[in-house]
Amino acid sequence: MAFKLTPLPYADTALAPVISAETLSFHHGKHHQTYIDKANAAIEGTDLADKSLEEVIVAARGANQGLFNNAAQSWNHGFYWHSMAAESTTASDELVAMINNAFGSVDELKTKLADRGVGHFASGWVWLAEKGGKLSIEETHDGDTLADSGFNPLLVIDVWEHAYYLDHQNKRPAYLDAVIGTKLNWAFASENLARGTTWSYPA
Ligand SMILES: [Fe+2]
Repeated sequence: MAFKLTPLPYADTALAPVISAETLSFHHGKHHQTYIDKANAAIEGTDLADKSLEEVIVAARGANQGLFNNAAQSWNHGFYWHSMAAESTTASDELVAMINNAFGSVDELKTKLADRGVGHFASGWVWLAEKGGKLSIEETHDGDTLADSGFNPLLVIDVWEHAYYLDHQNKRPAYLDAVIGTKLNWAFASENLARGTTWSYPA
């Protein structure tokens, strides 16, 4: 069963001007699609062809770097699209309590997420994640993922240049401030926390 490009959960104009339709046309329509196509090509005709994307990631980690990169990037991008919302969203009481406990306040968390994103060298991902009832900010480099890490990812922000270059050029802090300030999907984070298991890439 071939993996599919997850549809955007909003119109391609919905995140503008933070993330424009032009960026989404490349980032979702070209970059994400290419990761999906390459992962599908690599598993076609193998015993991984009928596995879930999460199972492919586990099988490929440390064994097939090319497949791992494309499978993990497919998963990360699917999760990233859902980590943003066009409308303002609200965190659950449970999530707010855990954020306050771990970071002091939601505003402090937002500041720390932006700082980690700005400080992340080169390409990668910045995550809000839960493990053992505790929240933390995690970073993964290049195509690496938290999908098979033992963490329950709640939100992710793509800090590859292709995520922001058309809209913000080299100004990664401007992209991070705008996304973190206005577009993060706190309802999605709350759902992930309440479910207690890692999000599954849509079949
Ligand atoms: Fe990306």
